[in-house]
Amino acid sequence: MDLGLPDILRLIHPILAVTVIFPSIGIVVYMALQTRQRRLQTVEGGKSKIPAGVGQEHLKVGRWLAGAVVGIELLGITRPLLDKIIKDQLWSKDPTQFALVLLMYVVAIGSLICLFRARPKVWRGVFATLCGAAVVVLSLQPGIFRRDNGQLFQGEWYVSHWYSGVAATLLMIFSLAIIQDIYQDRTHRWRVAHTVLNSIAVLLFIGQGVTGTRDLLEIPLNWQEPYIYQCDFVNKTCPQIAPPPQN
Ligand code: HEM
Ligand code: HEM
Repeated sequence: MDLGLPDILRLIHPILAVTVIFPSIGIVVYMALQTRQRRLQTVEGGKSKIPAGVGQEHLKVGRWLAGAVVGIELLGITRPLLDKIIKDQLWSKDPTQFALVLLMYVVAIGSLICLFRARPKVWRGVFATLCGAAVVVLSLQPGIFRRDNGQLFQGEWYVSHWYSGVAATLLMIFSLAIIQDIYQDRTHRWRVAHTVLNSIAVLLFIGQGVTGTRDLLEIPLNWQEPYIYQCDFVNKTCPQIAPPPQN
């Protein structure tokens, strides 16, 4: 195996997604089904074989998953973003833009930590909004591939790894923001909203698995890039390599 540093850096994000994020999704979804089943079984004093603590366990792994998804999103965008910043020497070319990017990382991570701790509704709203906005601003930075020809919702945006990644991340941030509301609401409206939105999140995660592996197939190894990028991607042809000399 002869992988250079650029290839290894590129692989860190998919490796963590596959080995850490996706197993956690499996655990969270399994416990989600059990939480719902137990609630329905015990709704009118009925008995259930499912342990009473399953909802708390779902919440515990769910909180970890939500934080980890924000982390994997930031990891996915940071490699291409850093690449572009270094190539452009952004700190000297546009120091304001460079400072803004650094500030957005501080806001994203800082408000995520605060969101984990906040209890009053207003603060949960504030930190979730700040965290979500910072993630979106960072994800929109130049150099990050969106499959939309550089214009939002153009080109092949509907099969893009970027759009579903950002959407799933925002749903995880929203899940963190409404935990207390799920428990306090006797009409179950927040519970239903949570279930519907996170069922969509599960579909988006499956989409990430599909588009991410496709992208791994499409992205060349670092040393192959100069040749591969001479190819004509519309007509699907590559320049012919001269045949080896005949003796
Ligand atoms: C990723 C996929 C997720 C799915 C599919 C999911 C789905 C569900 C379902 C079906 C329930 C039970 C609803 C009912 O009783 O009818 C539930 C409960 C709950 N979920 Fe999730 N959820 C997910 C992630 C999360 C995350 C990330 C968090 C927290 C950050 C979270 C927090 C909660 C809480 C607090 C409850 C109430 C538990 C209880 O009754 O003790 N969930 N979820
Ligand atoms: C929760 C799951 C995931 C999220 C939120 C996520 C998010 C992202 C984002 C926002 C980007 C930057 C945009 C882009 O280059 O397309 C990215 C890049 C990438 N993702 Fe994911 N992703 C997830 C899972 C996966 C999986 C499962 C794989 C493959 C097995 C994968 C492979 C990649 C690759 C190859 C890149 C390009 C990395 C680079 O150029 O440095 N991702 N991801």
